[in-house]
Amino acid sequence: MRILVTGANGQLGNELRIVLAQAISDEVFYTDKEELDLTNAKAVADFVVNNDITHIINCAAYTNVDLAETEKLECNAINVTAVKNIAMAADGNGAKVIHISTDYVFDGTAHRPYRESDKVNPISQYGTTKRSGETALIALAPDSIIIRTAWLYSPFGKNFVKTILRLSKEQNEIGVVCDQIGTPTYAHDLALAILAILKCHQWVSGIYHFTDEGACSWYDFAKTIVKLTENTDCKVKPILSDDFPRPAARPYYSVLDRTRIKATYGVTIPHWEDSLEDCLKRLKEL
Ligand SMILES: NC(=O)c1ccc[n+]([C@@H]2O[C@H](COP(=O)([O-])OP(=O)(O)OC[C@H]3O[C@@H](n4cnc5c(N)ncnc54)[C@H](OP(=O)(O)O)[C@@H]3O)[C@@H](O)[C@H]2O)c1
Repeated sequence: MRILVTGANGQLGNELRIVLAQAISDEVFYTDKEELDLTNAKAVADFVVNNDITHIINCAAYTNVDLAETEKLECNAINVTAVKNIAMAADGNGAKVIHISTDYVFDGTAHRPYRESDKVNPISQYGTTKRSGETALIALAPDSIIIRTAWLYSPFGKNFVKTILRLSKEQNEIGVVCDQIGTPTYAHDLALAILAILKCHQWVSGIYHFTDEGACSWYDFAKTIVKLTENTDCKVKPILSDDFPRPAARPYYSVLDRTRIKATYGVTIPHWEDSLEDCLKRLKEL
C-alpha cells in the first residue's frame, strides 16, 4: 500500500501518524494544507499520480461548526469541493478512499441509535456540507468507505476535553448542556478502526458508523472529565441548550449504531469512559 493521509495535522491525522507508524511498514504520506491544499484539484490529482497512491484517508475538514454558519464558502470548499477532488483523483488512478463524516448529517430526532441506512437531515451548514461530501464521493468514487463519527477528542488540537480541563482550572462552576446526547469518541480508537480496515483483506465499500461504546450528554462527559482529574474545586452544572444559544443548531440525539463496522471488520470498541481515562493520562504526561 502507498497511503495518503490528508488533514494530517488535525486530531485524527495525528493519531493516525502514531497508530500507522507502530503497525505497518507501508509508505505513508502525511499532508496538511501547506503540503497539499485539497481545494486545488490539479494538485490533488498530481500528488496521487506522482506518488502512485493506492489508498487515501481523508481526515481534512472544515470542523468549526459555529463559524461554518457564516464562513459558508470556506466550509463548502473543504467539506465538498476537496472531497470531489479526492474522489476524482482516486477514481482516475484506482486508489481507494476512506473518508470521515459526521453524526451531524442527522437531525437528532431519533429515539434509538442511528443506523447507516437511516434518513439524513442535517440541521447546520457543517452537517449539510459533510452530507454533500458524502454524496459527491459516492457518485464519483463508489468504491469508497465513509466512516461517520462523533464528538472527537484527543491530546491534539482543540476539543471539548481540553476546553473542560482549562475551564475547570479557571472557574469554580461551569454550566454544560445536558439535553444533547451522543458518544464521546477518542480519535485514537477511530485510528485503530481505520487500521483494521486497511489490514483486512476484504474491502466492503459504503457507509459505516464508528464511535466509542456507550452514550451520554455533554454534561455527563464534562462531569466525568472533572471527576477523573480529581478536581474537587469545580462544580459542573447542567444547563439546557436553550440557555446556551449557539450560531449552529445541534442534533439533540446523535448516538450512532456501530453494528456494521463491528460485524464487517471485527473492530473491538472500548467504552468512552475507558478511552477518556487513557487520553487524560496522555495529556498529563505532555
Ligand atoms: N472534531 C469532531 O468532533 C468531529 C465530529 C464528527 C466528525 N468529525 C470529522 O472527523 C474528521 C477529522 O476531524 P478532526 O477533529 O481530526 O479535524 P481537525 O482537527 O479540525 O483537522 C482537520 C485538518 O484538516 C486541515 N485542512 C483544512 N483545510 C484543508 C485543505 N484545504 N487542505 C488540506 N487540509 C486542510 C486542517 O488544517 P487547519 O487547521 O490549518 O485548517 C486540519 O489540520 C473530519 O472529517 C471531521 O469532519 C469530527
